[in-house]
Amino acid sequence: MTKIVNSWNDWDPLKRVIVGRCDNSVIPPEEPATSEKVPVDSEMRGMWGLRPLATVERGNECLENLVKILEDHGVIVDRPTPLQWNQAIGTPDFRNDSMMTCMPPRDILLTIGSEIMAAANSFRCRYFEYLAYWPLMKEYFDEDPSFKWTQAPRPRLTDKSYKHNYYDEKISLEERLIRTANKDFVTTEIEPMWDAADVMRMGKDLFIQHGLTTNRAAMDWFQRYYPEYRVHAVNFPGDPYPIHIDATFVPLRPGLIINNPVRPLPEEQRAIFDANDWQIVDAAQPAHTEPPALCYSSVWLSMNCLVLDPKTVIVEASEVYQQEQMDKLGMNVIPCDLRDAYPFGGGLHCSTADVYREGTCEDYFPNRVKDPTLVRPEMWPEG
Ligand code: ALA
Repeated sequence: MTKIVNSWNDWDPLKRVIVGRCDNSVIPPEEPATSEKVPVDSEMRGMWGLRPLATVERGNECLENLVKILEDHGVIVDRPTPLQWNQAIGTPDFRNDSMMTCMPPRDILLTIGSEIMAAANSFRCRYFEYLAYWPLMKEYFDEDPSFKWTQAPRPRLTDKSYKHNYYDEKISLEERLIRTANKDFVTTEIEPMWDAADVMRMGKDLFIQHGLTTNRAAMDWFQRYYPEYRVHAVNFPGDPYPIHIDATFVPLRPGLIINNPVRPLPEEQRAIFDANDWQIVDAAQPAHTEPPALCYSSVWLSMNCLVLDPKTVIVEASEVYQQEQMDKLGMNVIPCDLRDAYPFGGGLHCSTADVYREGTCEDYFPNRVKDPTLVRPEMWPEG
């Protein structure tokens, strides 16, 4: 019996992984969910269409660098099948002028044990992105009898899924930070919506970022769908564009997390980590002051690393400060030239999705304390 899919966290020894592709990638047109994602002063505001071919080729070259490193370390690498992302799409509820990409599989696929679930993304342009991964899912399904192939409930993404006039040209950075602190995001609570990259898997505990791409209803859905796991809602008030947890709060091995120093986890949300002797250390400063051209993400992709095992991590080649810090934290660092793939949807963690890591579902938080992050505290009494 072949076991292909198994992964419970981000640090157990990696044996099989999906690496995205930049082919046919599009800067999507503005829609209610994405107008928030593009910073007001970004050169990408108001522009959309196919990304320049030379940048696509260069982005793919970067991903090939990653594939080579992974294969040299004995990791099996699978790749998605890109669609013509510039096609218009429609459902009974909405129309959109194009799709986006299949570069960051991390946003779409969530692996928990022997299950891979396609997310309930809130961007209309990403509604059909899962199709790029379906040939792989079918292959795993045919070969691994224990693989659970799942699609989360599809959100309808009607106009009711978004707050209207939430986005305003004049909104200041301070106002954005106030909104993050108040958990006032562009999505409503009418249906569960979530990106897989907002979910940090730690064995029996799932920590989910409440932000622009994942709402509270999603967390409630997670806790009901996985009654055997503890679901925690975390948020990072220092982030004006809270999208995806993996440039903010990144575990390197059991007991150690690096946290973006401008987006610290609020003190009261740390109780469960403190009670279980987890160390939360400030991540090193990024080596760059600006993201590359036509990039959605911040310079903090510096900390968006891929852990190969609890002693080995791949870090972007130009991120010298992050490499130095990882080294001091006792990790063997493998540099990978990937920066020109950032504009397509992120760094090393974003551009991958776990298929197989050795290991089982462990409880890394056996000491229970009063924990305000629990989504349904009544399910998890203290003591
Ligand atoms: N939202 C993350 C960042 O740009 C990826 O920092």
